[in-house]
Amino acid sequence: MTNQSPTPAQRHRVLFVCLGNICRSPAAEGIMRRIVEENDDQTNWEIDSAGIGAWHTGQLPDQRMRVHARRRGLDLTHRARQVKPEDFDRFDLIIGMDSGNVSDLRELARTPGDLKKIHPMSEWMGGVATRYDHIPDPYYEGAEGFELVLDLLQDALQNLYAELR
Ligand code: 4NP
Repeated sequence: MTNQSPTPAQRHRVLFVCLGNICRSPAAEGIMRRIVEENDDQTNWEIDSAGIGAWHTGQLPDQRMRVHARRRGLDLTHRARQVKPEDFDRFDLIIGMDSGNVSDLRELARTPGDLKKIHPMSEWMGGVATRYDHIPDPYYEGAEGFELVLDLLQDALQNLYAELR
């Protein structure tokens, strides 16, 4: 059988959203890209990240997040951008890192169809090892905060991939 490219309707189009788009969501984007690459599944996925706020537009991820990600072999090269209403046209799944992100996204939604696309990351968390129900903001935390984010995301995104693949 020939290896046909999927039609756009079959692609998984996922946008990860956090507050600033410099810590959690670019990490989620990088981890998801790696999972998809490891499964040689890039043609089936469109992955991006964005922030609720525009404060860091154009910036690379926070230096601390880049250092911690690098130790796991992940290069985070995303440039921060603010989420916009048209993202609801480009993506089918818009995943907020915490309940604040989710309520801010709901404010941006234009239609009931848009609302249905918004999900909290907690839907894919809750493996036996975790007592967290959101991805905690590491911005004002130390090194452990960044490590925790990466651990929680790795687990949740494996679950997301297993569900959607
Ligand atoms: P993020 O972390 O939402 O995971 O990117 C933050 C980054 C910046 C700010 C807050 C959280 N800030 O207030 O600038």
